[in-house]
Amino acid sequence: MTTRQRHHVSDDIHSNGAAVNPWWANAVVYQIYPRSFQDSNGDGYGDVKGIISRLPYLADLGIDAIWLSPVYRSPQDDNGYDISDYRDIDPLFGTLSDMDTLIERSHGLGIKVIMDLVVNHTSDEHAWFQASRDAHSPYADWYWWRPAREGFHPGEPGAEPNRWGATFGGSAWQYDPQRGEYYLHTFSVKQPDLNWENPHVRQAVYDMMNWWMDRGVDGFRMDVITLISKRVDVRGRLPGEDYGLFSDGPVGEEGYSSPWPFSMDGPRLDEFLREMRSAVFSHRDGYLTVGEGQGISPERNETITDPASRELDMLFLFDHIGADQHGTKWTITDLHLPDLKSAMDEQQRAVRSKGWASLYFNNHDQPRSVSRWGDTSTPELRTRSAKALALLLHLHRGTPYVYQGEELGMTNAGFTRLSQYRDLESINAFRQRVQEAHLQTAESMMESLAKVSRDNSRTPMQWDGTRFAGFMDENAGIEPWIQVNPNSPSINAERETEDPHSVFSFYRSLIALRHTDDAVSCGEFAMLDMDDESVYSFTRTLGERRLLVVVNVSSHSSDLPVQTRGLLAREADPERVVIANESADAIVGEIAMGRLSAWSAFVYQIEK
Ligand code: GLC
Ligand code: CA
Repeated sequence: MTTRQRHHVSDDIHSNGAAVNPWWANAVVYQIYPRSFQDSNGDGYGDVKGIISRLPYLADLGIDAIWLSPVYRSPQDDNGYDISDYRDIDPLFGTLSDMDTLIERSHGLGIKVIMDLVVNHTSDEHAWFQASRDAHSPYADWYWWRPAREGFHPGEPGAEPNRWGATFGGSAWQYDPQRGEYYLHTFSVKQPDLNWENPHVRQAVYDMMNWWMDRGVDGFRMDVITLISKRVDVRGRLPGEDYGLFSDGPVGEEGYSSPWPFSMDGPRLDEFLREMRSAVFSHRDGYLTVGEGQGISPERNETITDPASRELDMLFLFDHIGADQHGTKWTITDLHLPDLKSAMDEQQRAVRSKGWASLYFNNHDQPRSVSRWGDTSTPELRTRSAKALALLLHLHRGTPYVYQGEELGMTNAGFTRLSQYRDLESINAFRQRVQEAHLQTAESMMESLAKVSRDNSRTPMQWDGTRFAGFMDENAGIEPWIQVNPNSPSINAERETEDPHSVFSFYRSLIALRHTDDAVSCGEFAMLDMDDESVYSFTRTLGERRLLVVVNVSSHSSDLPVQTRGLLAREADPERVVIANESADAIVGEIAMGRLSAWSAFVYQIEK
């Protein structure tokens, strides 16, 4: 039962009249990275009890659901994305009973609870994998086991079945002496890929999902779910495919080929998602499913999220956050705004009449957007650009996701030494790119990490200005698992919740706006001035209501581009400014001048 009154969006969320009225159509989801959110017992790691203690803060922000990054039992090789028991909570985070309390208290505040579902792979310490190491066990076929390359002795250098590289460095194949074969791991050596071709694997996953749903959770964010169907048959090469499981693809600069083309959006993905939907969700409502959508084209996004397909409610796509990445993720460049616009536009168009979009700039795998695309050179510009990016994202059509600390305008970690990093991807990439493949100097790789390492978003949540930012007890005698950002005395929740002009207060207004304004949640999206390099503007239209969204994504003043200016001709009514990061009078002044100040961002209600 919810205690807050929720506003229901009109049935007509699609411009073509396709009626869907799920609760998430005007909801905002808040992502929690548990190990960095709030420590309750002074061990330096955030935990479930810590989350419970901060629920009032989240209710105050106004979000509708929390998504927890994994808290299941795990050796923590990849901070919980390597699960050894899906039906237990890791002692680092607490107990099952803490989890029950979190679900109950959240529901009491009208907040749904979405769990992370990591089922492309398990931990190598999972009982299924341990059993699978015996070729005669019933679990023998639960993972991707392959013999050594022909003519090689198992375990010797070069004997891997092919040259696939793992996402977190090294070969994607690991030799297991007990089995005498290699297993596939798309990610770290401690994250063996499950074999979804095996129906017993699928049933075990669905049983586990039902177990959690019956316990009260409200859905799942599905980790790399579009990798579960591998593009191979059991024996190898597929007719018509360029290369099969046993042959090498093109070898990249780090000395490996990529297994991703064999698994992204594989041939049985729709079938598996439908089967999951029917096994877990067919008799339920009020839930949410969102899949991490690597390799999903706009057309495929439409199909997968079309309610009629009975697959997923929405997907996290990647092309927009890849707009400034050319080549590898380590070679990030300055954002060319039209690239971001066209990626967002394509995503919005794809689900215009069927399906639904997720909206995000931040998560636990991305650097902080205010550091990446905003301006952190002064406190004023940081605040202003954080609000501008928030307005820009939240005014699109779809379900926005706020990543912890984003609502405070938290910035990148600012690490300068390798020893400050904790993320296995960052540490392995440094070794592979600098020491093994000699692709970057140590200095240039430290610059890359400072810009894109996942640890940028994993520093402790900044609650207040005390030594460890209120994340943990400062008298515990130990330090947090990862360093607190030194800017926590000025950027923290305590200051911002009290300040009506803070980034936090702005997020609260944006969230409230989505709850009450159908044009914001459902209105049709139309991009304007696509080629303008500074101004990002679009309209949202529902019935007679039309909103014009204008953001100057730059630290200099910019002319209103032509289409936007056309829509604003003769407009000068401060009452029509729906929300902005400066006063309505200032906005009207800028419209009159035809010139936007740095990071100016507003929504203006225009006549249709
Ligand atoms: C997803 C997660 C990421 C994790 C990876 C492997 O991309 O978001 O954090 O490392 O999958 O599970
Ligand atoms: Ca703890």
